[in-house]
Amino acid sequence: MPTIVPYTYEKKEEKIVYFTSLLKDMKVLVATEKPFAAEAVNGIKEICEAAGYQVVLLEKYTDKAQLLEAVADADALIIRSDKVTAEVIEAARNLKIVVRAGAGYDNVDLAAASARGVVVMNTPGQNSNAVAELALAMMIYMSRNRFTAGTGSEIQGKTLGIHAYGNVGKLVGRKGKAMGMNVIAYDPFITDDFVFENDGVRKVGSVEELYAQSDFLSLHIPATPATKGSIGYELLSSMPKGATLVNTARKEVIDEQGLEKALDERTDLKYITDIAPDAVEHLAEKFGKRFFATPKKMGAETAEANINAGLAAARQIVDFFVNGTTKFQVNK
Ligand code: 3PG
Repeated sequence: MPTIVPYTYEKKEEKIVYFTSLLKDMKVLVATEKPFAAEAVNGIKEICEAAGYQVVLLEKYTDKAQLLEAVADADALIIRSDKVTAEVIEAARNLKIVVRAGAGYDNVDLAAASARGVVVMNTPGQNSNAVAELALAMMIYMSRNRFTAGTGSEIQGKTLGIHAYGNVGKLVGRKGKAMGMNVIAYDPFITDDFVFENDGVRKVGSVEELYAQSDFLSLHIPATPATKGSIGYELLSSMPKGATLVNTARKEVIDEQGLEKALDERTDLKYITDIAPDAVEHLAEKFGKRFFATPKKMGAETAEANINAGLAAARQIVDFFVNGTTKFQVNK
């Protein structure tokens, strides 16, 4: 007789009990429109297969229908920025857990998942260093005229503002300090001054104060109903002369019309983003060297970040099924 190890997942007053012995043939679908590095995929397979689960890959898919078909018999799903809509949840009749290998989970319909008792997790911190390195690189790229001829400027001695002091924000701050920048930060959810002081970062009292003082503003806020469209004309036009807004967060947090108006009026302002705005071609044509968007989001596109986040996702799935661990659940 196989050993039956039960675990429970409590959803409100309802208690769902699975038996791991019955889950041995489980299917873990890795659905990544933007695939992980091969090493990360191999690591995910090793972890899942050691637990007795089967791994199925759906990479570089171009049509939602492919995802709907692939999730139909999946028990667990690992994704990146892939959209897990109510339709996807509906199509995934066996689904018990979705792990977003990364930080932001605005691509998952949490309400639809919760309604079906599907646990959603992220892997916070696992790809942060890659994103932080890119943010610093973007500052230098813009300061050096996007690596074209002409006199640029240095980032040393400039004020770097960090908007949201989470995993990525902290790393950007530390790297900025190492580059000789004066680092300030604002985060409405972190009230403990020590968190900032410990890193030699000055906490400012408001978002307005942050933008008004930052030669470089690095954005790290998530896309939520409260933050969508929240960075616009007022904040941008309050920035110091020659300032650069650096966006490695989400395009949705920018009010594009406000951004365009600020760039129109202030010919010294610059915007660099890792998430192309809706009007990317128009903005690129209109603002020339003062605007740049990466062709495809590349913040977390390092082998290290793929391995860290991908393997963490696989481990979290096994830990969930074997021990019922829900530490990184985001739809509690
Ligand atoms: C994240 O939220 O973790 C980053 O935006 C990375 O997203 P990606 O996995 O789509 O590159």
